[in-house]
Amino acid sequence: MSNDNFLAGKHVLISGGTSGINLGIAKVLAGLGADVAVFGRDADKAARAAAEIGAAGPGKAIGLAADVRDEVAIGRIVTDTVEALGPLDIVIAGAAGNFPAPVTKISPNGFKAVVDIDLLGTYNLFWKAYEHLNKPGASLIAISAPQGSVAMPFQAHVCAAKAGINMLIQCLALEWGAAGVRVNGISPGPINGTEGVARLAPTEAIRKAWTDRIAMKRFGEAEEIGQLTAFLCSDQAAYITGTIGPSDGGMEVGDATPPH
Ligand code: COA
Repeated sequence: MSNDNFLAGKHVLISGGTSGINLGIAKVLAGLGADVAVFGRDADKAARAAAEIGAAGPGKAIGLAADVRDEVAIGRIVTDTVEALGPLDIVIAGAAGNFPAPVTKISPNGFKAVVDIDLLGTYNLFWKAYEHLNKPGASLIAISAPQGSVAMPFQAHVCAAKAGINMLIQCLALEWGAAGVRVNGISPGPINGTEGVARLAPTEAIRKAWTDRIAMKRFGEAEEIGQLTAFLCSDQAAYITGTIGPSDGGMEVGDATPPH
């Protein structure tokens, strides 16, 4: 990937792109020339994120607001993005919810909230965006997690949701592959500065114990997830579909469970 602006002319929509890993992805893609639309539930936060991404450029950025659980609102987000940026090439489903809790302390509504944000939200975005992505070279990426393939205590709702996302990725890759549309996932390990890590490693002692279990003995950076995303949606990955690629410092080859 020698061309510094190899995503110039590409138009990208990212759910949950207003903070954390997904904001990091948006910055990397805009840094490689893509024009990016980010959205989350909070319009002010989205505007601030877009200003930050656009200021670094060279790609431009817009910020929009919608809840991924609301399919009508997602349809509007897709239409507004196409109107503002032009035809879509890349869609990234990154919106997620998480709180650690034993299964008997997760209410049906709490379980549903996480499954709806993660799994239904990914489905809503991919379904509504496909009309604009049904063309060779288009790429969809869902942000999964180690919870999608490794059972963890206090994460039953997240494990169920992420496992569903992994299977959704594979089904859509099968359905859409003949159209030249690629669907992949990324499974990030613990990433510094994210809400997820703040919730799963709330103390320095837990953070240290978790770090010790990771092959590379460190947490990752959002920028590192952005680099994998850039590769997966580039022409260099033209024959890659239906995969869930880890970027987790070797977390899944060791004991992936966060301490508690
Ligand atoms: N333990 C147990 N239940 C919890 C909880 C916790 N720590 N936090 C929330 N819940 C329950 C609520 O009590 C509620 O259930 P109830 O109606 O039976 O009481 C249910 O989850 C929904 O909570 P609510 O705050 O109304 O939902 P929301 O849709 O506004 O928020 C969450 C969704 C719960 C995922 C919230 O944590 C969130 O918005 N997270 C976004 C940020 C995030 O999680 N980032 C990490 C990504 S990895």
